[in-house]
Amino acid sequence: MVEVELKPIQKGREISSEGYKRVEKLPRFVEDGISYWLDSPNGRHEYTHQLFRFPAKFHPPIVRWALGNFGRKGSVVLDPFTGSGTVQVESLVRGISSVGFDIDPLACLIARVKTTPMKPDRLTDVLNQLLTLLEPYKQIRANQELIPGSDITEEQYLTEAVGLTIPPLSNITHWFRYYVIIDLARILWAISQVEISELENQFFKVCVAAIIRRVSNADPDPVSGLEVTSVQARKNATRTIRVFNDFTNKTRQAIQGMSQLWETSTQNGDKVSVRVIHGNVLRLSELLSDTSSVQAGFPLVVTSPPYCRSVEYSRRHRLEMYWLGLVENQVEHINLTHTYIGRRLVRASDWNEEVEFGIKALDNTLDQIATQDIHKARTVKNYFHSMKNVFDQLNTVMKRTGTIVCVIGNSVCCKVSIPTADFIAELTSDHFVLKNRFSYAIRNHYMQYGLWNGDGIKQEHVLVMKPK
Ligand SMILES: C[S@@+](CC[C@H](N)C(=O)[O-])C[C@H]1O[C@@H](n2cnc3c(N)ncnc32)[C@H](O)[C@@H]1O
Repeated sequence: MVEVELKPIQKGREISSEGYKRVEKLPRFVEDGISYWLDSPNGRHEYTHQLFRFPAKFHPPIVRWALGNFGRKGSVVLDPFTGSGTVQVESLVRGISSVGFDIDPLACLIARVKTTPMKPDRLTDVLNQLLTLLEPYKQIRANQELIPGSDITEEQYLTEAVGLTIPPLSNITHWFRYYVIIDLARILWAISQVEISELENQFFKVCVAAIIRRVSNADPDPVSGLEVTSVQARKNATRTIRVFNDFTNKTRQAIQGMSQLWETSTQNGDKVSVRVIHGNVLRLSELLSDTSSVQAGFPLVVTSPPYCRSVEYSRRHRLEMYWLGLVENQVEHINLTHTYIGRRLVRASDWNEEVEFGIKALDNTLDQIATQDIHKARTVKNYFHSMKNVFDQLNTVMKRTGTIVCVIGNSVCCKVSIPTADFIAELTSDHFVLKNRFSYAIRNHYMQYGLWNGDGIKQEHVLVMKPK
C-alpha cells in the first residue's frame, strides 16, 4: 500500500491544513492512505479528560471513531499503554469495560481517578472542608503571592516547614520557590486531615499533581522533559504564583468533569468494569493471566504506544511522582526510568542483543544511525524489539476476530527519519494483517513536541489490524 505522506506547512506555531482532507468527523469507512484534518470539536474538555495535562495524550475523536466502529457495549477493550486513560474514559461512557496497563505510577493513578465516577456533591463538600482548613494559610500568603517574583526567606521557610512533609526531591529549591513548597505541602497535609475514602483521597491528590508543573519554576511546555530553561527563568523573575488559587480552580474544574462522568455513567446504568494495571507491558500476558477477558480473548485493542525517543515520561513526571510519594528516592526513580519503552537512552548494560529484524528498510535505518551514534542506534533497536514483543503478546490475548487500532507518530534520530508506523506494520505482519491505514494532523500544540525538538511529529498514523 502506498501511503500519502503530506508535508504540512508550518506558519509560526500553526500548521496549515493545506494538503489534508478536511472533515467534520472521520467517516465510518476511512479512505486508505488519506491524511485527515479534523474540524470536529475535539472533546478534550468533556468528562474527566481535562484533569491532567498528559504528554502525547490520545486525541478523543480518534478513540471515539475506534470504539464506535469496533467496540460493542458489554465487551472489553484493552489499552496496553493507557497513559492518562483516554481510551478507558471513552469506553466507560459507552458501556464498554476496559483493561489498561502502564509502567508510569502517575499515569496509573490519573487513569484510575479519571475512570472512577464520584458523586460531585460529595467532592464539593470535601473541597469546602479543605478550603476551610487552608483559609488561615491562604491569608498569610495573600500579599506575598501578588508581588511578582517574590518569595519568603529561607528562615521563614524553615519555620513554616515544621510539621509538614516535604518530598526528598534533590535540589528542591531549584524547582520551586520556598513558599510554593510550603503551600503544596500544606494542601497535601489538609487532604490527609479530612475524612475521605481512598478514592476521594486519590482524586484530590491528582488535582494537586495537575498544578505542580504550573507552580514550579520549570518550563511548563516542553513535553519531552523537565527543565528550568533560561526563557522560563526570566519569566519567573516577574511571575506571580498562587498555589491555593490554582488548586481551588483546578479542583472545581475537575469536579465539573467528574459530574459529567457521574451523570453519564449513572444514566447508562451499565455494568462496566475498569481495571488499571501498574506494570511493564513486556510482561503483559503474565500480568493478565488471572483475567477472565484473556480466556475469552480481547475483541478490541485501542492504543497509542510511546513514540521512539520522544517523551521521557519518568523525567517529565519526576516532580509529581516525588510530591505524591510515588517514588521515594533517586535510585528508585532511575530504576523506573530504565523500564519505559521509547526512552531516550537504553544502556548497554540493560540490553545489547544482536538483533536483525529481517526488514531491509529497518536494518538500513539502524545502520545509518549506528554510523553516527551507536548508543542511539541501540536505543532505537530496543524500541522496535520491545514493540514487536508487545504485539507478539497481544496476539496471544486477542480474539481471532478481534481488531487492533494503533496510533503512532514517526520520528527522526541523528537526522535519519524513522517511519515508525511502516516498521510496526511490517514487524507485526507475522501475526496481524494491516486492514486500513490513515493519518491525521496533530493540531494541539502540546502534542506537537516534535516541531520544537526537530523530530517533526506533525501527524499521527492510525493502523487498523486484524489477527491472521
Ligand atoms: C503515548 S502515551 C499514552 C497516552 C494515552 N493514550 C493517553 O491518552 O493518555 C504512552 C504511554 O506508554 C507508557 N509506557 C512506556 N513504556 C511502558 C512499558 N514498558 N509498559 C507499560 N507502559 C509503558 C508511558 O508511561 C505512557 O504513559
